[in-house]
Amino acid sequence: MKTLLKSARIITASDEFSGDILIDGERIKALGAGLEADGQTRTVDCTGKFITPGGVDVHTHFDLPMFGTVSSDDHYTGHKAAAFGGTTTVFDFISQDEPTLAESVQSWHAKADDKAAIDFGFHMNISHFDDAVAKEVPALRDMGINSLKVFTAYNGRLRLDDGDIFRVLRIARDNRLLVMVHAENGDVIDVLVKEALQSGHTSPEWHALTRPAAGAVESVFRVIQLAKQAQAPLYIVHMNTAGGVRLLREAREQGLPVMGETCPPYLFFTIEDLKKPDGAKWICSPPMRSLQDNQVIQKLLGEGVLQVMATDHCPFFYDGTKPILYEGNPVAIPGKELGKDDFTKIPNGLPGVGDRMLLMWNYGVRKHMITPQQFVAQHCTNPAKIFGIYPQKGALLPGADADLVIWDQDNPITYGVEVARHRTDYNLYEGWKLQDTISGVYLRGKLIVDNGQWMGAKGQGRFLHCDDPQVI
Ligand code: URP
Ligand code: ZN
Ligand code: ZN
Repeated sequence: MKTLLKSARIITASDEFSGDILIDGERIKALGAGLEADGQTRTVDCTGKFITPGGVDVHTHFDLPMFGTVSSDDHYTGHKAAAFGGTTTVFDFISQDEPTLAESVQSWHAKADDKAAIDFGFHMNISHFDDAVAKEVPALRDMGINSLKVFTAYNGRLRLDDGDIFRVLRIARDNRLLVMVHAENGDVIDVLVKEALQSGHTSPEWHALTRPAAGAVESVFRVIQLAKQAQAPLYIVHMNTAGGVRLLREAREQGLPVMGETCPPYLFFTIEDLKKPDGAKWICSPPMRSLQDNQVIQKLLGEGVLQVMATDHCPFFYDGTKPILYEGNPVAIPGKELGKDDFTKIPNGLPGVGDRMLLMWNYGVRKHMITPQQFVAQHCTNPAKIFGIYPQKGALLPGADADLVIWDQDNPITYGVEVARHRTDYNLYEGWKLQDTISGVYLRGKLIVDNGQWMGAKGQGRFLHCDDPQVI
């Protein structure tokens, strides 16, 4: 089956032109002006529309157990929400919960494979480390995994000490794996949390006040120096402070193979949002910072210091005692209300996988924070390159998977929980105006979102075996 998308504005990470895209089966066959349809080709007029590659979101947490509940999107509902927001590939983090890494990987396949509605890869969390784990790490490459996440925070749960992070970095370097790091100061957080609770400070803003920006900056500095000593590349996830992103810039200027990711909330929200009566909606780790942090991160994103925009999608209900209707059925999953009397019991995480492309196009590109080419680079091409799935994903090129987003120019809507398809009861961007919206999404040549209609299916998503990571 062939499809010819005619007369669109086509946007890539390096270019922009008017033309047509011919899809043959699951792949892009040709791009150019004046492409002709034969008898078997379905032609779609894209006049007035623009096309980008399908988005690649390399930071999600579907079906993640936390604080006695679970993130409210699973590998079907989260994939579907992603698709409505123009994302056709996601990477989820495997918890190191089973006796071996191989069994942990299997447990994530068991959650994801039958539910997946878009294509997906995995990262492996390394949250405890010893000689046995060290021996197992290289085999992850045979399982299609090329990335490990380590943590300098969440003491007693996920954190590794510096020596173990250093060892992981060296093993990764020798096996063409990329280390991703969550950078906050776990020791300082523990002291501040204890003191806050002793003083009776239990409201959501204390989540942010007990996780200071300076600890995140110090930790970014430390992990960059650890990677330098290990001579290993490094990818810093969810960068959230001005100081941290400045350190990333400095490291890159020195030629170090360090890359950085941020997420839209760190551009648009601050600790002031946590002080609102419904402040628990903004609780995630690392937390929201200051307006100055927002502004510097926006500026340095526009200067190309950060390579990737991801989401850290990890949604919870705001009030998980009240069901919402999802695909016609009532669903209620315990959420942020678990911590109504104690901020340390509020599940950490935000919805966002479906918001990312729409928000960043309308409030990034249209507000001149980033160019259309940077948008495609940060949301599609760079993450695909870094995690070894380019040019199959993240590219509009002959031979690439036909993952495409059809955008409607000047089709204003008001965004919010009713528009976003996340399986939760709130959206952080409630009431925000979007000027350009998404009317069609193709996954490997199949139209899975058609003018607000879900045409996709559970189980259609495929696991991606990642090639070598790239430093960009
Ligand atoms: O609050 C968040 N981000 N929860 C997910 C876990 C993480 O650290 O990415
Ligand atoms: Zn993290
Ligand atoms: Zn995360």
